[in-house]
Amino acid sequence: MSCTRKTLHDHPFNLWKFLVSPTIKAIDVFSLTIQFTLALCSVTSISLILYFAFSNYSHLPQLHINRVTNFNQNGSVSIEGHEQTNISHILFGIAGSVKSWNKRRNYTELWWKPNVTRGFVWFDEKPFPNMTWTETVPPYKVSEDTSRFKYSCWYGSRSAVRIARIVKESFQLGLPNVRWFVMGDDDTVFFNDNLVSVLAKYDHNQMYYIGGNSESVEQDVIHSYTMAYGGGGFAISYPLAAELVKILDGCIDRYDKFYGSDQKIQGCLSEIGVPVTKELGFHQLDIRGSPYGLLAAHPLAPLVSLHHFDYFESIFPNLTQIDSVEKLVSGYEVDPSRILQQSFCYDLNRNWSVSVSWGYTVQFYPFLVTAKKLETAVGTFQTWRSWDTGPFTFNTQPISSDMCERPVVFMLDRVESVGGGKTLTGYKRYNMGKEEKDCPRCNYTAVAVQFFNVSAPKFNPDLWNKAPRRQCCEIINGTDGADTVVHVQIRGCKRFESVTPQ
Ligand SMILES: *[C@@H]1O[C@H](CO)[C@@H](O)[C@H](O)[C@H]1NC(C)=O
Ligand SMILES: *[C@@H]1O[C@H](CO)[C@@H](O)[C@H](O)[C@H]1NC(C)=O
Ligand SMILES: *[C@@H]1O[C@H](CO)[C@@H](O)[C@H](O)[C@H]1NC(C)=O
Ligand SMILES: *[C@@H]1O[C@H](CO)[C@@H](O)[C@H](O)[C@H]1NC(C)=O
Ligand SMILES: *[C@@H]1O[C@H](CO)[C@@H](O)[C@H](O)[C@H]1NC(C)=O
Ligand SMILES: *[C@@H]1O[C@H](CO)[C@@H](O)[C@H](O)[C@H]1NC(C)=O
Ligand SMILES: *[C@@H]1O[C@H](CO)[C@@H](O)[C@H](O)[C@H]1NC(C)=O
Ligand SMILES: *[C@@H]1O[C@H](CO)[C@@H](O)[C@H](O)[C@H]1NC(C)=O
Ligand SMILES: *[C@@H]1O[C@H](CO)[C@@H](O)[C@H](O)[C@H]1NC(C)=O
Ligand SMILES: *[C@@H]1O[C@H](CO)[C@@H](O)[C@H](O)[C@H]1NC(C)=O
Repeated sequence: MSCTRKTLHDHPFNLWKFLVSPTIKAIDVFSLTIQFTLALCSVTSISLILYFAFSNYSHLPQLHINRVTNFNQNGSVSIEGHEQTNISHILFGIAGSVKSWNKRRNYTELWWKPNVTRGFVWFDEKPFPNMTWTETVPPYKVSEDTSRFKYSCWYGSRSAVRIARIVKESFQLGLPNVRWFVMGDDDTVFFNDNLVSVLAKYDHNQMYYIGGNSESVEQDVIHSYTMAYGGGGFAISYPLAAELVKILDGCIDRYDKFYGSDQKIQGCLSEIGVPVTKELGFHQLDIRGSPYGLLAAHPLAPLVSLHHFDYFESIFPNLTQIDSVEKLVSGYEVDPSRILQQSFCYDLNRNWSVSVSWGYTVQFYPFLVTAKKLETAVGTFQTWRSWDTGPFTFNTQPISSDMCERPVVFMLDRVESVGGGKTLTGYKRYNMGKEEKDCPRCNYTAVAVQFFNVSAPKFNPDLWNKAPRRQCCEIINGTDGADTVVHVQIRGCKRFESVTPQ
């Protein structure tokens, strides 16, 4: 496999090129280059052979994939004979390492809730005496020694064995009322309420393995499409964990050639016969470059996790990565289900098209753009290994080479809860004036809009249990005649409504 290295500069169509200030970009590229070089050292070349010498498949347990669910009057799901799953039923197992914890703990602090979330960060060794411990991060455990296990992936790290066993060590703690074991990395950020919404749909008394693939097809081809990627996080129901821990140690030796802990777990689950149930909100984020296009066109599914923040540009180009994630979380906290949900609206009098990715960005086109185009992620990002423009496990569209076809971009500026179950989010025009310099022909500066105010009802999480449908919105003129502030109102769609121009 080719190891040719590409940098951001090799990709002429990079949206952020026009949006990111040169200083920030220089720093990002520098740190990315270092990180990428390190990553290359560990994932350089790989065997595509995923077949193993197992012939004795005659006694696979029966698959249990039926849901036993009832809808109550409010549309929420209750599993027969059980109270609805809540955060207390989840036991997190976070893969950490003492040496990187002081940096990575900042990501964990963004989602960990003292006395609410349960779980541990699992370390490779005892923390250094100078490390302090606060309630803002999970308590730690030190993993058992794993030197007795086989590990023979020459380009990988033995730590995969230790990390694969976290689910077993978590199970063996024997903590009460655990329905789900959720594994993640120390640079995974979970969106707890949405994680609960997703898990509550499934009967925890059956054997479930829930998560998501890598976004980069090259990764899925090499590592597997059938596994839930560990950095995006995955959930294993209690009964499945109970089966898994019985055979896990043997699997670790059998799948000694596998690179990662997540792949070893999947190898083992395939012996039990339980496939991954894919949920679109888990994000491994095996991408390089700017995640903007992906986050501006999130699928219609609750945002469950994000990962790999140190490997791509800041989510908000004007902020450090940690401040960016904090900003995204501030929107999430006001309306957890709505974060990153897209709505499209048009003003047919002025031929305006607007795409809102709630809590993150507004893309404004002073011309008509089809819904199909608005829902397709713009390729501001590249693949994980080859830094190529694709393929990904979803469709992308190239950044238009015609500057005038690109949107005017607005980024989240403020979030408020305004009572009556409503929110108001403000999005500020990014790189005001730059469009003119880059493309006088488009005359985007003629568009006076500098701010989008978006009001929305809080998104009822019960909607996730119904047939998915993108919500509608309307452009309402600002109070000032100059239209420097455009007001957008998001609402549920009417029965036969569509955004089709008449
Ligand atoms: C249904 O919703 C109403 C009001 O929103 C609430 O009072 C009630 O407790 C809910 N019932 C259930 C079973 O969740
Ligand atoms: C979660 O559900 C359990 C019942 O299984 C209940 O006792 C507990 O109070 C709930 N916790 C939260 C945080 O809602
Ligand atoms: C992490 O947060 C601490 C304060 O809580 C700060 O001192 C440190 O610089 C942060 N580290 C990074 C890498 O952002
Ligand atoms: C968590 O619980 C402990 C013990 O009950 C208590 O001392 C502590 O103040 C609590 N922390 C928070 C943030 O609620
Ligand atoms: C803490 O101790 C470790 C090893 O003992 C050392 O490498 C590290 O620099 C120390 N950190 C601080 C902040 O003193
Ligand atoms: C909007 O677009 C239609 C057709 O594309 C065109 O006929 C009309 O003049 C445009 N209106 C404005 C205000 O630009
Ligand atoms: C970037 O952030 C700085 C400091 O918060 C602010 O002054 C500046 O206006 C921001 N730039 C853009 C383009 O939003
Ligand atoms: C750009 O728009 C402004 C304001 O509408 C107008 O005065 C100016 O002539 C336009 N420039 C071009 C190059 O079209
Ligand atoms: C907003 O104002 C424009 C003119 O500035 C007008 O054509 C349009 O109909 C107005 N739209 C609404 C929804 O009031
Ligand atoms: C838009 O939002 C800002 C900030 O919340 C607020 O100050 C302003 O009054 C709003 N404008 C309109 C027209 O609603």
